[in-house]
Amino acid sequence: MEAAEKKEISVEDEAVDKNVFKDCSKIAFYRRQKQQLFKKSTYRALLDTVTTGEKSTNFQIINEATKISLLAEVYGIEGNIFRLKINEETPLKPRYEVPDVLTSKPSTVRLIACSGDTGSLVLADGKGDLKCHITANPFKVDLVSKEEVVMSINSLGQLYFEHLQIPLKQRAAKENEEDASIDTSQKNQEDLCLWEEKFGKFVDVKANGPASVGLDFSLHGFEHLYGIPQHAESHLLKTTGDGDAYRLYNLDVYGYKIHDKMGIYGSVPYLLAHKQGRTIGIFWLNASETLVEINTEPAVEYMLTQKGPVAAKQKIRSRTHVHWMSESGIIDVFLLTGPTPSDIFTQYSRLTGTQAMPPLFSLGYHQCRWNYEDEQDVIAVDAGCDEHDIPYDVIWLDIEHTEGKRYFTWDKKRFPNPKRMQELLRSKKRKLVVISDPHIKIDPDYSVYTKAKEQGFFVRSHEGGDFEGVCWPGLSSYLDFTNPKVREWYASLFAFPVYQGSTDILFLWNDMNEPSVFRGPEQTMQKNAIHHGNWEHRELHNIYGFYQQMATAEGLIQRSKGKERPFVLTRSFFAGSQKYGAVWTGDNTADWSYLKISIPMLLTLNITGISFCGADVGGFIGNPETELLVRWYQAGAYQPFFRSHATMNTKRREPWLFGEGHTRLIRAAIRERYTLLPYWYSLFYHAHVASQPVMRPLWVEFPDELETFGIEDEYMLGSALLVHPVTEPKATVVDVFLPGSNEVWYDSKTFAHWEGGCTVKIPVTLDTIPVFQRGGSVVPLKTTIGKSTGWMTDSHYGLRVALSTKGSAVGELYLDDGHSFQYLHQKQFLHRKFSFCSSVLINNSADQRGHYPSKCVVEQILVLGLRKEPSSVTTHSSDGKDQPVTFAYCAKTSTLRLEKLSLNIGADWEVHIK
Ligand code: GLC
Repeated sequence: MEAAEKKEISVEDEAVDKNVFKDCSKIAFYRRQKQQLFKKSTYRALLDTVTTGEKSTNFQIINEATKISLLAEVYGIEGNIFRLKINEETPLKPRYEVPDVLTSKPSTVRLIACSGDTGSLVLADGKGDLKCHITANPFKVDLVSKEEVVMSINSLGQLYFEHLQIPLKQRAAKENEEDASIDTSQKNQEDLCLWEEKFGKFVDVKANGPASVGLDFSLHGFEHLYGIPQHAESHLLKTTGDGDAYRLYNLDVYGYKIHDKMGIYGSVPYLLAHKQGRTIGIFWLNASETLVEINTEPAVEYMLTQKGPVAAKQKIRSRTHVHWMSESGIIDVFLLTGPTPSDIFTQYSRLTGTQAMPPLFSLGYHQCRWNYEDEQDVIAVDAGCDEHDIPYDVIWLDIEHTEGKRYFTWDKKRFPNPKRMQELLRSKKRKLVVISDPHIKIDPDYSVYTKAKEQGFFVRSHEGGDFEGVCWPGLSSYLDFTNPKVREWYASLFAFPVYQGSTDILFLWNDMNEPSVFRGPEQTMQKNAIHHGNWEHRELHNIYGFYQQMATAEGLIQRSKGKERPFVLTRSFFAGSQKYGAVWTGDNTADWSYLKISIPMLLTLNITGISFCGADVGGFIGNPETELLVRWYQAGAYQPFFRSHATMNTKRREPWLFGEGHTRLIRAAIRERYTLLPYWYSLFYHAHVASQPVMRPLWVEFPDELETFGIEDEYMLGSALLVHPVTEPKATVVDVFLPGSNEVWYDSKTFAHWEGGCTVKIPVTLDTIPVFQRGGSVVPLKTTIGKSTGWMTDSHYGLRVALSTKGSAVGELYLDDGHSFQYLHQKQFLHRKFSFCSSVLINNSADQRGHYPSKCVVEQILVLGLRKEPSSVTTHSSDGKDQPVTFAYCAKTSTLRLEKLSLNIGADWEVHIK
């Protein structure tokens, strides 16, 4: 929808038009695969063709009816991962294999064919307990761990491969008799949409004809599946009914419907399954339109016919079948074998990389709307935040800041002196983010356009010439980010001398990069548009946005000569986007249901590698009632990317516009965010170096507790904090499940405590954010809040030590300069470890390699759950000096409070409590 059109429509009219977007019944390759059209028979592995090379074990698979053979390659990958690739043995032309997603060539381990008879082959990496058992006829692969089959592939016989064919016209006469399995009659051809597919007024002419692939996976003993974002759906994946598969197809869906499996802005074709004792993952590396069906069969128990004196009981474990289908490309699937959730995160990050370490400012609060009108508006909002004591780090400029939506330019009337404006923000230690979309206005006077045009940097249409589509600026062409030269050139546009008016406090926002094409099929690009290397858009649709963010992040790194960390927010994403920055959940609505769904949506992103994610606070579309806005700020303060945003026809909603009482509540929520920044930053470091998600579903922390497997109204931040945002209007109480029968949990404000393993009713008022600290943890925080993160560099630390039932606790703090790559190249960082045991709190180094001069001290320590009032507290420094400390003990809450300490954060010391 165009800007003008969008503006005129009221929220009530915003329901997603199902005629604009396809459901499964309108997707031809889905229909064909469901009919198993080209299948007609089973596949057989030809085990006499097995060859074992350095990297992979290869063999042919033949379709018994058509006799067409496929080539299978099995790889063992370092870290208990198997990779199975299936491609045509001799395709008419190469099929698309997704480049640039895998971090480097994953290091393979040599598989040994350890046993097997003529009908089977067993592969093992010789180290672990895992084996890959390949059965020849019908072709099936079992993944076996300790004699137990964890996963079977093609056990339902859904392996499906549409081999490339000579275009219909050329083969018309000749082929009919050769390939009797395919009905080429005109009528059937149309129904099956082999070479042409219609949707409304759109006709997709397919140069390569049908090329889809599919495969089934049976997960034995698993009933709980997660992942495959992005859907506005529950965290726990649902069984899919007929025609109701999860769709992975990046689309611009304004005000997307919730509890729906339609594709929205991004796709990560990676699914996790969990049961007590094991977590596994399936990463389906394919960037074309993809559908996933899920079917759970519950466990059954039945009596065997009695043969001996005692009737035997047979128990069949529950299992879940997952059916992946993609429109084109090859089958390239990674099987991640866990066994723990933590192992799964490490395994996935080996393939696609870890979360980029964000600059510290980007973990602060972001103030955005479409649009901050002009320089005066920006200055006024900035001043308003100060006046109302609202900390914030970044103000955002949407599309209207440009000269007619020509990115990299400024509207001269509204922003006559962008550098002056940035200098003002800089003096406040704040940043600016501006938008840059992938569509480029067709305008011979716009240098970005003419330069791209000259160099042939746009996506081409299948008729020849540059692809043209309508987006914000009107008729536009779209940069072909799949071309490395285009990325290099685009990156160069962010250099300070090139991007006029930009300074080093300006960062980026990539939007509409699904890509969004107004009035295009499903609001996106025709699938037969042509990219670099002559690949059709259909092959790589889901990875287009990934490439734009990659190029933008690279541009920001380059403009700083490799010194500074970039910040880039993207709407569209793919597996591996975590390496380039943050994502958000797009155009949500100012309604309680969207606040609620933000939690499972973000949890799903987190477990599929993308920790840095958030949802527009307040809801983008419509005007939130004040209570909802307050609750949204409270929830957003505890979500990784924290930005308020609103569309252009909404009422202004800066935090101070709703009366002093509400300003106070919003301020308090934002201040809680800033208080906890040391914890957030440490969690991001952990995500960056150790692949563990920042925001974790409960099952990740409590993998053996069945009750946690379906919980999505609360979650863990790291392993120490449990957050249960209030997402209901007029709530007076929330039911909080506190997991772990051996755990103890502390209310982060009242310090009241509960034993784990039960649901507690927590009374709430509008100022309550239910947050609980897990016994056994130490959370680092800041004791004074500044106007932005930049004002807090030297502010002091506090430690909140929550004792476990055994009276101990551990925690960490990571800190560095917050913006450069020195932590990486010069090891300029501090990584401290806090441990409390036998009444002694110790601060020592968690990583000896790191050094960073910090003036900061720990000035406050709170110990929660200390049952007995101490008689003395002393600090003990590494040079042997002991010093008594005054303390306050509250018997009612069992809390010990130490204030006015001056313990250097980077030095080793101990606190003794007697
Ligand atoms: C899209 C984005 C939204 C942005 C708007 C204008 O709708 O999702 O965040 O404000 O475009 O750029």
